[in-house]
Amino acid sequence: MEKARKLAEILERVRSGEDPAKIRQQARQLLSTLRLSDISRAHKYLVGSGVSFDQLRTLVYAFASILGDQFALLRSNLGSDHPVRRILAEHQMFECFLSDLEGVNLMIQEAEELTELSSEFRRLEHITGHLQAFDVHSQREDDLVFPALESYPCKSICAVLQKSHWRIKNMVSNLTMAVNNFKHFEPVQFKIQVSALSSAIIPIMREHMFQEDNILFPIAIDVIKDEKVWWRIKQLSDEMGYCGFDAQPCCT
Ligand SMILES: [Fe+2]
Ligand SMILES: [Fe+2]
Repeated sequence: MEKARKLAEILERVRSGEDPAKIRQQARQLLSTLRLSDISRAHKYLVGSGVSFDQLRTLVYAFASILGDQFALLRSNLGSDHPVRRILAEHQMFECFLSDLEGVNLMIQEAEELTELSSEFRRLEHITGHLQAFDVHSQREDDLVFPALESYPCKSICAVLQKSHWRIKNMVSNLTMAVNNFKHFEPVQFKIQVSALSSAIIPIMREHMFQEDNILFPIAIDVIKDEKVWWRIKQLSDEMGYCGFDAQPCCT
């Protein structure tokens, strides 16, 4: 726990605005002996010392800023049939949908006339259909990956991520509802709703996937050495298929 406490202190310094490069230099010895599982212990230590979930979210950036690009390392070390590779691929697809949502929101805001047949509206409808796949994506993590990590000191990170799954699913479902009920909105009200929901969904989803790519999955790969566990996850994951690649119908 001593190493975790020291790491937690370093993270607090990064979070309070000190230069990560300078801290990395000063803490070279500690960082060179660090395993990714120490990060989850530090995370647990911080939760125990009363840091709020929101503060913990900002700490993830501190982790990444002192530990370097864990995502690049993770990608280069994963086998092509590893179940985490599929999750990372879905993250990449969601990144594209978020950029599309950003663009279509601008188009909707600028549209002079907006009807169910407008290209802007149809594009939004299509992108929203893709974003609904986050339900299955997060279910794969909640039901298959997080339980496998339960016996490792990763619980606090999983709790933060599970909480944001719930928030994201809620927001995407509100966006879907707005799209499905387009005809009940005044165009101005619809624009306000789309703008508010897009501005909420885009940063929270980006941040969420950043945390998983840079913290959760590098740790998961580091701590779960039993290939049978990954094999079981892959078997169940295959049954769920890929999500995000085929749009679900948005309007029913
Ligand atoms: Fe997630
Ligand atoms: Fe994810």
